[in-house]
Amino acid sequence: MGETAKLIIDGKSYELPIVTGSEGEKAIDITKLRQATGMVTMDPGFANTASCKSQITFVDGEKGILQYRGIQIEQLAEQSTFVETAYLLINGELPNQTELNRFSVLLNDHSLVHEDMRAFFEKFPRSAHPMGILSSMVNALRAFYPEIPERTEEEEVNITVTRLLSKVRTMAAISYKISRGHKLVYPRHDLSYPANFLNMMFDTPVRPYLIDEDLVSALNKFWIMHADHEQNCSTAALRLVGSAKANLYAAISAGICALWGPLHGGANQAVLEMLNQIYESGRGIAPFIARAKDRNDSFRLMGFGHRVYKTYDPRAKIMKEMCDRILNKMSINDPLLDIALNLEEAALKDQYFIDHNLYPNLDFYSGIFLRSLGIPTNMFTVMFAIGRLPGWISHWQESIEDPDWKIHRPRQIYNGLTKRDYIPLDKRRESN
Ligand code: SDX
Repeated sequence: MGETAKLIIDGKSYELPIVTGSEGEKAIDITKLRQATGMVTMDPGFANTASCKSQITFVDGEKGILQYRGIQIEQLAEQSTFVETAYLLINGELPNQTELNRFSVLLNDHSLVHEDMRAFFEKFPRSAHPMGILSSMVNALRAFYPEIPERTEEEEVNITVTRLLSKVRTMAAISYKISRGHKLVYPRHDLSYPANFLNMMFDTPVRPYLIDEDLVSALNKFWIMHADHEQNCSTAALRLVGSAKANLYAAISAGICALWGPLHGGANQAVLEMLNQIYESGRGIAPFIARAKDRNDSFRLMGFGHRVYKTYDPRAKIMKEMCDRILNKMSINDPLLDIALNLEEAALKDQYFIDHNLYPNLDFYSGIFLRSLGIPTNMFTVMFAIGRLPGWISHWQESIEDPDWKIHRPRQIYNGLTKRDYIPLDKRRESN
């Protein structure tokens, strides 16, 4: 046995193997713990628990490092495109020209949504949240695109993956257009992935949408930065659903639902609502920083803090620069950006935030960027979901191919009432 950890329980000593990752992270393997000791471990929120081994993304929270398949996020944001990064995450390597062309053609061919799905989009209340629509309609894809028995499992997975990647942005644009009562705009074969999305969102018969390559490039970077982040809440949810052998559409729909939460992907919408609240209060940032520090107040500084990053989120740095660049280019003077910059400056000097290792995360500046593109606030998390799709897909694939695959079924420590007898109805006391 290689390196081990020693556990002593009631005077008895147990050796537990230590697993070491390719970047030097270590874990105590407790696969045989209950069998050997009769005990389980407790770890609410899984802050100390590795659920799997993975070769997709590496995050070093202390050093602020993020790598997709070994390539640092800064290089990908600077030099790659979202489609190429999606290919890298899903296939493990950057595509050559032939592979990239084939992948792009497949994404184009699958960019339309079944016309019969339109009736479902139209029946949602106009006020329906786009994340609820997206999770429902992704789940509905299985009904409109059922498995074809003649296909091999690999063919079925490949076509499902490209269908999802391509249709998700069409579906997002459909729900936006219908919510506005506007005519739908179809995907075009001559536009790139991000340009197609912007055109489907904002082109109208009376005012053609002018594709601005700087915005297309910024949206590529935005989605590259959202593409994966190891075992975050929504990816863990997707892996759990996938572990029961549910189909990919169902697993992705579960990931979308988890991402919707304001502590996770919903934070980008919550940040903008918080910045608006500060702006409209006219009382500046001090009262909000005080509330964030008050343990008796449930208010938190949205867009700050992270389970893994205990330093500046490398994505937040890139997002902040992108905000500056795009707002300057579009000559937008957004007062919420000034509030965000002041908030960051004040928090980074405040002992509470320093002691709690609270820094801006990916969501802190992303809403300001999305607003500059004209994306409505309630679609910010949909934009996160479109970006995260390649990561979710790669984790789903990795989990079903994992030789150690098991259905996810955590244990618990029961602390409820101990054994007692049933009391017939006529013997029960009425509450006074
Ligand atoms: C994303 O996991 C990922 O990788 C996620 C993500 C991805 O790419 O998938 O990076 C995307 O979800 C980013 C996070 C977006 N969420 C927010 O911005 C919401 C605000 N942040 C927090 O709610 C919080 O920081 C979390 C949820 C992000 C992390 O929570 P943890 O790790 O469970 O930390 P915790 O709640 O146990 O807090 C530890 C301490 C507490 O104080 P004490 O009780 O120990 O004194 O830090 C405090 C918390 O009160 N704290 C905050 C705070 N975040 C934590 N206090 C004020 N404001 C905050 N934002």
